[in-house]
Amino acid sequence: MHVQGLTPGPGRGTHERTCQGYVTGTPHLVTMRGFGCPAPAAPLPCRAPTTTPDGARALNATVAATDLPFPLRVRGKVRDVYDLGDALLMVATDRVSAFDVVLPNAVPRKGEVLTLLSAWWFARTADLVPNHLLSVDPDAIGERYPALEPLREVWARRSTLVRKLEPFPVECVVRGYLSGSAYKEYAERGTLAGEPLPAGLRESEPLPEPLFSPATKAETGHDENIAFTRMREIVGAEAAGRLRAHSLAVYGRGRETAARAGIIVADTKFEFGTDPDGTIRLMDEVLTPDSSRFWPADLYQPGRGQPSLDKQPLRDYLETLTTAGRWNKTAPGPDLPAGVIAETSARYQDAFRRLTGRTLDEFPLHAPEAA
Ligand SMILES: Nc1ncnc2c1ncn2[C@@H]1O[C@H](COP(=O)(O)OP(=O)(O)O)[C@@H](O)[C@H]1O
Ligand SMILES: [Mg+2]
Repeated sequence: MHVQGLTPGPGRGTHERTCQGYVTGTPHLVTMRGFGCPAPAAPLPCRAPTTTPDGARALNATVAATDLPFPLRVRGKVRDVYDLGDALLMVATDRVSAFDVVLPNAVPRKGEVLTLLSAWWFARTADLVPNHLLSVDPDAIGERYPALEPLREVWARRSTLVRKLEPFPVECVVRGYLSGSAYKEYAERGTLAGEPLPAGLRESEPLPEPLFSPATKAETGHDENIAFTRMREIVGAEAAGRLRAHSLAVYGRGRETAARAGIIVADTKFEFGTDPDGTIRLMDEVLTPDSSRFWPADLYQPGRGQPSLDKQPLRDYLETLTTAGRWNKTAPGPDLPAGVIAETSARYQDAFRRLTGRTLDEFPLHAPEAA
């Protein structure tokens, strides 16, 4: 790791510690610890500026972990979520995972893509279901929470100010095409989450109609597909019905919209929560490369697995390691070559531009609905 000028700031307790540093050479900004492996013994370095001292954006600057002056509510595979009291700050870092393992390198601008793409989709689906988004505008967020201002380079453009919700403990997966764990189950038993599917479907073929296929949230490792009847037992019959209807509606909107951009949304995962007055809201991230399988329509060919629009260079590289017996798809993940990281960053940004019609820098942070 090469971090210049790492300067721990003042603070009382780990979550108030801040530090600054500039990266040289490689995109390795912060060595990953504590993700997919035991918690770090020491607080993680927290800050990677997106601009160099002369103000130019460092092309390979990344944020792999944050340490903001608010209580950390959860550190997920990709997001650091802070409790701001009356709301949450969901910070999408540049961490990347493959085969459910968080890798040691971060991908430049990935957090921005996830954050701003979700904001774009929230604006385009709010007529179907209310959501948790309050703002992605750094000016508005900084004004409301002045303690965040000095650390703006860490969180701006990658953070969503959201309503604090009570999450439903299920992942609401919608599948439009037969792929992944669904194809595996179908090939073995002719079913999906125990329900029969028509015979004779090939891998990656569209399903007769999009299928709601819930899963339980696993703390670690792979989520487990569950039958809808099981979901009803977990969240109650009425909520289960609503979550299914919302999920199918948002997937339908997403699928049509993405198709116009030459992207197939093979499947996707939604999360929902309730606010204090009982309103069900869409939360977390929506229709991003990380929560969905995006396939380039021009390369689509049923009867085989499809290349991923975004993570394919990463997957291909990791498969070569696995074939060579150098990695067995468990944590810790291997170090990635700079070329693979750069290609992955370009793919995420390309997906963003194809969908929204704008580059990241053109995106109107104060009005995602205008994009
Ligand atoms: N509005 C919200 N209220 C409460 N929790 C939320 C909200 N939006 C997202 N979350 C939670 O924040 C976390 C996001 O972190 P992420 O890195 O995506 O986690 P994971 O590793 O579970 O995918 C998830 O646990 C998600 O359920
Ligand atoms: Mg998540």
